[in-house]
Amino acid sequence: MQKNFKMIQNRTFTMIKPDAVANGHIGGILEKITAAGFKIIAMKYSQLSLRDAQAFYAVHSERPFFGELVEFMSSGPIVAAILEKDNAVEDFRALIGATNPEEAAEGTIRKIYATSIGENAVHGSDSDENAAIEGAFHFAGKEIF
Ligand code: CMP
Repeated sequence: MQKNFKMIQNRTFTMIKPDAVANGHIGGILEKITAAGFKIIAMKYSQLSLRDAQAFYAVHSERPFFGELVEFMSSGPIVAAILEKDNAVEDFRALIGATNPEEAAEGTIRKIYATSIGENAVHGSDSDENAAIEGAFHFAGKEIF
């Protein structure tokens, strides 16, 4: 760790997952994100290979749902983005709602667009550290504005 290292606290990373893309919700989700005050500083429409998904979700590799998770996340195109706002990680997690859409608060992105705990429409980083790691997984420095 560098001596004067300061973790960036105003960025988070998101993916619009294959279920939401397939169901035509890219526009609706981006509208919710920008209306909540997040600035999109990087964005990419792409598809994860199975290997990409395994690497991205390596932290969950021992979980019983890992196989299902990586199959699903590589099953179709996704939209990846880096978002900027004060308190980005926490505010974005509030905007998307609980992992399980049945437990998500009214008006949250997952409550509106998710279909199940596995196919839950969007990803949001759970810490500043993971936001930096996940953003760097998808974007080169010159793709971040
Ligand atoms: P995400 O925030 O992208 O990070 C890990 C993902 O694992 C999570 O969203 C869910 O989509 C998925 N997940 C968590 N719990 C389960 C579960 N019990 N069954 C299937 N998928 C799950």
